[in-house]
Amino acid sequence: MIDSLVPRSDFPLLATHPILRYLDSAATSQKPRAVIDAISNYYETVNANPHRGAYALSAAATEAYQHSRDGIATFLGVADTDTLIFTRGTTESLNLVAATWGRTNVRAGDRVVVTRMEHHANFVPWQQLCLAAGAEFRIAELTPLGEIDMPGLAALITPNTKIVAFGHVSNALGTINDIATIAQLAHAVGAVAVCDGAQAVPHIAVTFDSLGVDFYAFSGHKMLGPMGIGGLVSSRAILDTMPPYQMGGDMIAMVGDAQTSWNVLPHKFEAGTPNVEGAVGLAAAVEYLSDVGLSRIHAHEMALVDMAMRMLGELPGVRVLGPPSERRSGVVSFVVDGVHPHDLSQLLDADSIAVRAGHHCAQPLMRASGVPATTRASFYLYNSEADVTALVTAVERASRKLAH
Ligand code: ALA
Repeated sequence: MIDSLVPRSDFPLLATHPILRYLDSAATSQKPRAVIDAISNYYETVNANPHRGAYALSAAATEAYQHSRDGIATFLGVADTDTLIFTRGTTESLNLVAATWGRTNVRAGDRVVVTRMEHHANFVPWQQLCLAAGAEFRIAELTPLGEIDMPGLAALITPNTKIVAFGHVSNALGTINDIATIAQLAHAVGAVAVCDGAQAVPHIAVTFDSLGVDFYAFSGHKMLGPMGIGGLVSSRAILDTMPPYQMGGDMIAMVGDAQTSWNVLPHKFEAGTPNVEGAVGLAAAVEYLSDVGLSRIHAHEMALVDMAMRMLGELPGVRVLGPPSERRSGVVSFVVDGVHPHDLSQLLDADSIAVRAGHHCAQPLMRASGVPATTRASFYLYNSEADVTALVTAVERASRKLAH
């Protein structure tokens, strides 16, 4: 019997909904008491606007913000803490890269390469950048198992390629990509490697400094932290060449009547009052995750996914998309013959099982897979074998009711 890796009672929402089977952590994770307490404590004892006030409380808020950045950078294996830029999340991080590095470096006749499995946040910014610049936008296709066709990708990465953008882990299929090899292919032609880590950082150990990618984006709310905070990691050498993303307070060194100069990293990319609450909450989240251990979390999810794939795959008319469990993270996407995922998810909800149904912000992938939508169950450290068996039982019952 696979029990949850941590007590459900650590998570107030799960404790107040004792019969809820929460299988939508790829959309957002639940928050442990430690994160909620860290945020409350910040507002009750430290809150002030950092960087601006010449008084003790403002200095304490600055210290809380910086301390949080240090903790999160350590968790991500980032030695140069100032190269971790706080953003609202993965979407903003990727848009930042497209709007700054992209607009500066991508010209007519250049090429940007993405993959078929990208979330819209790592697809649309590049597509639109190419349309605006007159550059070529190319999509690397997948194998029938939902993995990147590496020879196909390699063939697309030509000498005029400036950016190769790819996910570390697919949000729709769970596929874990060989990002080091993709980064090498990008670097061989002088392109930058941009990696969407939203579905990786919460589930597998990530050491940015040894990944080989140039930009790595992630979101706090999928890794036990609050919504509205996430980050972008890059190297000082690259960030220093980029223009700022947004203009405003804190990101300037000196504002003249005609010209302005920029603040040092990370402030150059953090215009306006920062999300200190978010950073503090995310720092508490990474402490919680570190205490449990990312290798244990990944092993736990693999065991649950393996079981779910096997049991769902034995049900008549059910097809699980994506690679075998050993090459995926905690996501199981499936379709049931003759049953629309939205109808299925509503019946599962009646059994207190929360899953996501739809295109998962990956319409290019759905089109290529020949399905308009899937039902997606995603697992995390608070899930257990009982959640898997409840899911499978409910899918079987709902499919019998809905199939025609
Ligand atoms: N990107 C999130 C998901 O995959 C919202 O559900």
